[in-house]
Amino acid sequence: MEKLVYCTENSETELFIGKPWYEIGDHIDISNTIIITDSNIHSIYGDNFPSCPVITIDPGEQTKSITTVESIVEQLLEKGCDRTSFLLGIGGGVICDITGFVASVYMRGVNFGFISTTLLSQVDASTGGKNGVNSGVNKNIIGCINQPSFVICDPEMLKSLPEEEYISGLGELVKHAFIRDAGLLGFIEENIGSILNRDHNLLTTLISASVKIKIDIVTSDEKERGIRRLLNFGHTIGHAVEIELGMKHGFAVSYGMLMAAQISVEMGLLDRNELGRIETVLNKLKLLTDIPQELPDVTEAILKDKKVEKNKIFFVLLEGIGNGVIREIRTDDLVGIIKNKK
Ligand SMILES: NC(=O)c1ccc[n+]([C@@H]2O[C@H](COP(=O)([O-])OP(=O)(O)OC[C@H]3O[C@@H](n4cnc5c(N)ncnc54)[C@H](O)[C@@H]3O)[C@@H](O)[C@H]2O)c1
Repeated sequence: MEKLVYCTENSETELFIGKPWYEIGDHIDISNTIIITDSNIHSIYGDNFPSCPVITIDPGEQTKSITTVESIVEQLLEKGCDRTSFLLGIGGGVICDITGFVASVYMRGVNFGFISTTLLSQVDASTGGKNGVNSGVNKNIIGCINQPSFVICDPEMLKSLPEEEYISGLGELVKHAFIRDAGLLGFIEENIGSILNRDHNLLTTLISASVKIKIDIVTSDEKERGIRRLLNFGHTIGHAVEIELGMKHGFAVSYGMLMAAQISVEMGLLDRNELGRIETVLNKLKLLTDIPQELPDVTEAILKDKKVEKNKIFFVLLEGIGNGVIREIRTDDLVGIIKNKK
């Protein structure tokens, strides 16, 4: 088990990676905690939940809405929750985002923590403090930044994850290596088989290494005014493709990372051999299997990206593996570059 602690301006978050999730009693006051989870998690793990009231929502992205937030708030009121109550989200990124958001607004804020149950949420969604919900097709457009008190990541829970969800999570894991840690990429390359077999000890090591990179970036720039933008590597094109083709996040981001790496080569920042290495590892991790034959028209999705400011966007490129760099590009120019690649 590895314990990490990170501090931001107003908070301290403890991360327990490799800790059995059912030891949650060490971290909460059962008499004052409400669990928020989805029906898939509840049916697999609910029998071992601590004996707290449970609010169960439908699984899936469509549940991540303001309507669900209202419904949870009503249920919290019915259960007599007050400002001292603690919300425990048990689930993947959807549950983390909703729980964090509800906790941030319920009675102007209550404390919260997560048992993070998908690889995507263990390496990404549960840390960093971004909480939010969608409005229509606009992803995470209503939200806030507020850190959880603790996060428990138990790789054992990943064994029940459907294959597609597991592989999708690998996209964000390898992203951290691409932008910050060439050594971690080497380690991933050497252990592809064990990664795909979901080896517990290996995953504990990998999740810790990956999350450390995220924490390091988030603690230097919690509000995403500068270096935190590095975490968006692959996400501008990835999000657009995710919206247009309905691909799963990690697959779409992997496609976005490959394209951003190709653009990096064209701009003379990245070696062709390094691009080959990136494509190979993404392929070996089965992250490029869903790749579209032809890129759809992503112009509209890119123009609507919430990261666009005054017709410009901060686009992340690689100046060598392990060295992400942020460049401000006019959205018209970016759309032109992408169209030329088609
Ligand atoms: N806040 C952030 O910083 C951040 C970062 C990345 C992604 N996100 C958000 O995360 C969400 C995606 O998260 P996700 O990929 O974890 O999806 P998810 O939460 O929808 O979970 C995927 C599916 O797996 C099921 N599941 C979860 N854990 C399981 C387990 N252990 N065993 C079996 N089934 C399990 C869920 O019920 C669901 O059907 C998106 O909404 C995205 O916007 C947020």
